[in-house]
Amino acid sequence: MPGFELFDSDEQSGVNDVLETGIFMRYGFDGPRKGVWKSKELETAICNVFGSKHAQLVSSGTAALTTAMAALGIGYGDEIILPSFTFVASFEAVISVGAIPVFVDVDDTLTLSPDAVRNAITPKTKCIMPVHMCGSMADMDALEAICREHNLILLEDACQSIGATHKGRKLGTIGDAGTFSFDFVKTITCAEGGAVITNRDDVYIKSDGYSDHGHDHKGVDRGADLHPFVGYNFRISELHAAVGLAQIQKLDQFLDIQKRNHTALKEMLVQVPEISFRRIPDPQGDSCTFLSWFLPTEVIARAVVASLKEQGILAGNFYWFDNNWHYIRKWDHLKEGLTLNALSPEHKTAVMQHASKDFSASHAVMSRCISTAIGLLWTEEQIKEKGDKIISTVKQVLQQQAVSA
Ligand SMILES: Cc1ncc(COP(=O)(O)O)c(C=O)c1O
Repeated sequence: MPGFELFDSDEQSGVNDVLETGIFMRYGFDGPRKGVWKSKELETAICNVFGSKHAQLVSSGTAALTTAMAALGIGYGDEIILPSFTFVASFEAVISVGAIPVFVDVDDTLTLSPDAVRNAITPKTKCIMPVHMCGSMADMDALEAICREHNLILLEDACQSIGATHKGRKLGTIGDAGTFSFDFVKTITCAEGGAVITNRDDVYIKSDGYSDHGHDHKGVDRGADLHPFVGYNFRISELHAAVGLAQIQKLDQFLDIQKRNHTALKEMLVQVPEISFRRIPDPQGDSCTFLSWFLPTEVIARAVVASLKEQGILAGNFYWFDNNWHYIRKWDHLKEGLTLNALSPEHKTAVMQHASKDFSASHAVMSRCISTAIGLLWTEEQIKEKGDKIISTVKQVLQQQAVSA
């Protein structure tokens, strides 16, 4: 997810525009800012590029999730269904609004298993939150149908899949709201930043106010703004927005390169019959930030990872099953309910219970999966070298396994 790999004078001159005005805040200071409104411009660009009616920039993807949940009216006692494979931010946001993260298994799409979602629905379920992990999409046809059937909110965490589509619709625009992260390692970056996108006027108006202390933004005098509800400061700065505005112009270029490099690597790995690939509900829509592949067993996957590490070539290949940030198996702090602010006893118990369920169906998928991050700067020779090394490592491990069996 490497927007930072390709930046140039466009990002620099955007930041300089802001430095020259000296106005780093996105709201107010109408005179001194001399017509420079980077955040507003980036919001307009996001709407144009992704085809959403509204975009609200915020300070991070985590802030975008929290803001979206608040704006969708998710809070005390509500259950949100989300996948066991995601980033910690997804459940952090749920807990911060007072709701309960109900984790369910992922399948070979590396995203929510629709059957597991159906089984997890209770009278308290308010929202289903697919997380479009590693550049590609959840089974949106099935999830939309479940939401319709049960009258549930659909909130897409598209932080990792900027520019991916499902049957022609951009991820993030399919549900009631979607979120992007523009942190340093995302497809396009603001250094830090995020966005809530939505076609719903009510969700946009609430996101706009919530991310700026509840201001109604109806006048030009911030001191005279009314506060229809309590909000917080999740504002993005003009400096960050300036970087993002330059990056979004390059999104198509980034996606083209990702797709080319992803295809070239996949064409090599596909030649090994023991390697299989993540199921993509709409292969045309993959943003190709990662190539995620499976080995036949956990033992083989672990041996391949160990060998890649020993050869000093593991970097860029992620074995999520052992990852502390992305997979439920390692979230001991969550399972133990270790929050700094006290949760109500009932909330804490529910959080701990849902994090400690049986995720053996997810383990069966994740323990065999390796995701290779696709670089924008790779040359054809480098792709070939990477592919050759992965293939020879896998073949060697398979041979050793066969001998010891
Ligand atoms: C799936 C997912 N959701 C949310 C976030 C949070 O984004 P941020 O780092 O901008 O807070 C991330 C960041 O890695 C992510 O991968």
